[in-house]
Amino acid sequence: LGDVYKRQLIPDRPLFAEGKVRSVGDIVAAVIAEGKKYAEEAAKLIKVGYDPLPTIFDPLDAIKEGAPKIHESGNIVKHFKVAKGDVEKGFNEADVIVENEYRTQFQDSASMETERGLAIPEGDGVLIMGSMQCPHLVREAVAKIIGLSPDKVKVIQAVTGGAFGPKSDEVVYDVMGIAALAALKTKRPAFCWLDREDSMIVHTKRHPAVIKHKTGAKRDGRLTASKVEIYLDSGAYASSGVLVIMRATFHANGAYEIPHVKNDGYLVYTNNTYTGSLRGFGAPQVFFAAESQIDEVAKRLGIDPVEIRRINMLKPGRRTSTNQLVDGSCGLPECFEKVIEASDFLEKWRRNLQQNGSLRKGIGLAILYHGNSLGPTENDYASVKISIERNGEVHLGTCLTEFGTGSISGLAQIAASVLGVPISYFKVLRPDTSQFKDSGPTVASRVVTIGGRAVKIAAERLRDRLKIVASHLLNCKLNEVAIVDGYAFNTRNGKVVKWKDLVEAAYNMGVKMEEEGFFEAPVCEWNEENGQGSPYVQYTYGAAVAEVEVDLETGIYRVTDYYVAFDVGKAINPRGVLGQIYGGSVQGIGYAMMEELVHENGQVKNPNLRDYYIPTSLDIPKNFKAFIVEKEGPLGPFGAKVIAEPPVALPAPAIRNAILNAIGRSINSLPITPEKVLLSLLNKKR
Ligand code: MOS
Repeated sequence: LGDVYKRQLIPDRPLFAEGKVRSVGDIVAAVIAEGKKYAEEAAKLIKVGYDPLPTIFDPLDAIKEGAPKIHESGNIVKHFKVAKGDVEKGFNEADVIVENEYRTQFQDSASMETERGLAIPEGDGVLIMGSMQCPHLVREAVAKIIGLSPDKVKVIQAVTGGAFGPKSDEVVYDVMGIAALAALKTKRPAFCWLDREDSMIVHTKRHPAVIKHKTGAKRDGRLTASKVEIYLDSGAYASSGVLVIMRATFHANGAYEIPHVKNDGYLVYTNNTYTGSLRGFGAPQVFFAAESQIDEVAKRLGIDPVEIRRINMLKPGRRTSTNQLVDGSCGLPECFEKVIEASDFLEKWRRNLQQNGSLRKGIGLAILYHGNSLGPTENDYASVKISIERNGEVHLGTCLTEFGTGSISGLAQIAASVLGVPISYFKVLRPDTSQFKDSGPTVASRVVTIGGRAVKIAAERLRDRLKIVASHLLNCKLNEVAIVDGYAFNTRNGKVVKWKDLVEAAYNMGVKMEEEGFFEAPVCEWNEENGQGSPYVQYTYGAAVAEVEVDLETGIYRVTDYYVAFDVGKAINPRGVLGQIYGGSVQGIGYAMMEELVHENGQVKNPNLRDYYIPTSLDIPKNFKAFIVEKEGPLGPFGAKVIAEPPVALPAPAIRNAILNAIGRSINSLPITPEKVLLSLLNKKR
């Protein structure tokens, strides 16, 4: 798998369509003009002739024998496998076998700011400033597009108004590349941006999925076998989809130990708009399916949703679907018991089964695990530069980027705590490819975990040097020096030197006050042949309970309560962690209840924020409780685990299972709209 994150994994997408247009949103030409009005006028003068070709809009149609080929290589972009034991043997041992199909939809990132970039000719090269996640990847892509060597391209990340994944993906290279082409053609600054409508059509979205589950279980609740087939709709191009199908296939059985497993993940081309990076990266789809399925199995066995999870969930000493041993840093049981207890789950769940009247309450549960960072690839590194200025300010520079998660503040916090200075002494420098080395992509929630280790390395070196300086100034041994809160102490006699004086002394002694920290995660072991290995060094664990109130007459329902707990290893910034849990949960509530970028024959029907619904404050549960569990992991600084993405995956199954508890109906496709609820109630057969 090697170099997967270096750039386009599968080079299947030209900047401008060549001979064949495969989807709405393919770029056929660019117009350069002084202002939007003229550009739009000029664009109208372009006439494009199209010869219709056969089209396919469903991944299950695309894999049929004789289906028209969207790319010469065929319609299956990637078939990815996970296997353990002998799944047929597992089904033979089972007392019950439950089979279901689950479907999920296109979800948009709906970041506040759309994609945009400014290109300025500079010497014999170009300066790019724009909204992005990965400046070094933009640099390589733009260099390729304009045919210059990467050292002629300088990229600075502008303040970025939300990203959620698409701003690490192809669309950013389009926007920056076209701006660069225009700047070089005109020898003037050029700006390229996508309006909301263009953005929602062109940028990557969450892959729609068809997921087929077959599960075997013993009468006592033990799972014996799980067979999962995943079909992800890649749209017309692969983008980061190969990594998405990997993550989806790894996690497809849910956070359970199951002795016999067989997962087949297929990433499939269609003529829909293309899909790719979006917060969660394959996890929300598979946990919706897996956690719905586990409630179906429990229902068939006549046991409750708590018991089936207690019996089978991952905990230290158990093994995942890839046969990875779960280590002592697994806090899943703790997360689970927290939300069960806080919500008084079983009492309510049982009571809800006996309701009358037209308003019905329901309570539902979901658990997950989430492999941290990139997984079995070779580019999981980070690089940071820390310099202590003569005035005492500490400068932190990296090409890891901030786009609203607060993760770069987390880096400053780590450095501040290692150096022993208040965070107010810090200045975070703007990511700039001419100043800071490639730091790997800002994706997969990896900044604090991987970047934090690099920060720690650099900060520790600087601290060790400053301690030597302090021991001179304070006339004491090295191990008697402590630097705390901006003061160096002689711990023996309480003598103190201020940070500024310490730094000044260090400068006078010629001590190097600048350090680069580099950290590379251990390469995970993965055997693509037998589908086994340890694809991630550590995992984040989580559990959630949702409570709903369903109106039987209209199908309209509200999520009234939400309890969620995450094992984040170590909360570097507890408020920031809670912010990610709240925000991610709300994005997941949108995914569960209303968000869908509707495609009809490949056309996007609602590419605007009037017709594409996202949750407002009125949709957020009134009672919303988040809990942090800390089981230190082996990868992150101080045991920290990732948290930006995992919370998105829990609401959909928890809400779906709550509706099952409320009305006894299994709704197996997202989003769960009031129409679907009402139709399920009208369907007497069920
Ligand atoms: Mo992300 S969806 O890994 O940028």
